[in-house]
Amino acid sequence: MHSLLEVRGLTVEFPVRGTASSGRLSTAVRELSFEIAPGEVLGLVGESGSGKSVTSLALMRLLPPSARVSGHIIFRVLPNQDQRDLLQLSEDNMRQLRGTQIAMIFQEPTTALNPVMRVGDQVAEAVRAHNKITKKEAWDRAVSAMDDVAIADASQRARDYPHQLSGGMRQRVMIAMAIVNRPQLLIADEPTTALDVTIQAQILELLANLRKKFGLTMLFISHDLAVVSQVADRVAVMYAGSLVEMGSKADIFRAPAHPYTRGLLSAVPTLTTDRNSALRTIEGTVPSADSISVACGFEPRCTFRIPVCAQKFPPLVEVGAGHWARCPVVNRSPGV
Ligand SMILES: Nc1ncnc2c1ncn2[C@@H]1O[C@H](COP(=O)(O)OP(=O)(O)OP(=O)(O)O)[C@@H](O)[C@H]1O
Ligand code: SF4
Ligand SMILES: [Mg+2]
Repeated sequence: MHSLLEVRGLTVEFPVRGTASSGRLSTAVRELSFEIAPGEVLGLVGESGSGKSVTSLALMRLLPPSARVSGHIIFRVLPNQDQRDLLQLSEDNMRQLRGTQIAMIFQEPTTALNPVMRVGDQVAEAVRAHNKITKKEAWDRAVSAMDDVAIADASQRARDYPHQLSGGMRQRVMIAMAIVNRPQLLIADEPTTALDVTIQAQILELLANLRKKFGLTMLFISHDLAVVSQVADRVAVMYAGSLVEMGSKADIFRAPAHPYTRGLLSAVPTLTTDRNSALRTIEGTVPSADSISVACGFEPRCTFRIPVCAQKFPPLVEVGAGHWARCPVVNRSPGV
């Protein structure tokens, strides 16, 4: 695969609070590897605390200085599509890349927007941060981006302050800001979680349209498998900081190979269940990041566990072409 992004062995550790002197670290993301091809949407799914946001912040190099990051984040950097390891780029080079070649949208648009600045000016500022153009040109590009994200009467709405817009409109402004410089890769971290179901569906449709229109490559992060199934081509499932399964959407939804994914699928909410409580129906809780040890992270909750599961971090095994699962017990080859 000719990847746009290739993450290899990404590990993120934080000092355990109150133990700075003892140097104890907790692992938020462990040996994470995945690739995204140009134009592809990879869905990254996992419950709260599994390391999704830490992963996206690592890709953007926006983690706090206390984070210890290792591994490789190989990205094809324009103009020549040279493969560069983002973890090795200078802060200056990274700043140029952020917002132009890789952009991100966050879960909560309200906190990301400046309340005392017109939204059009905020989008225009994102343009001027990376292009030497006049204020008028930047404003025109901002209005055009707001038009791209289907904000009706964009030139008028651009003059509004955030509080004059609905939650869905504010998220559209955030998306406009993310795409205004035509990034190659868009990282969307729970972009619809704060929105009600109707607006959520509209935003997902918008992202699908933008993907077609601009050939966007996307890392789409959500705790909600049902949402991921609507946008992703391939799905990566995270549990307690590590990837437990990855495959095409069909692999994951029709033939899940890891006990955790199977549990998630049986817990996918129906219209009549509470979406927020859906993932809690798998018995037990996620181990805290600082207790992730040498065992399979899912061992305390797994009905398939055998003694070795508590003694050894299981490897990813290929269970079908391009379909990987971190459970050698359930996916043992016959006769082993
Ligand atoms: N700055 C930090 N310092 C210490 N630990 C952190 C820091 N940021 C995140 N963590 C820890 O890393 C782990 C993964 O957190 P992360 O925010 O990536 O989860 P998530 O999958 O995005 O969850 P959610 O669905 O709730 O957004 C958690 O245990 C969290 O407490
Ligand atoms: S490795 Fe063992 S504990 Fe982990 S998911 Fe597989 S069977 Fe369950
Ligand atoms: Mg998160």
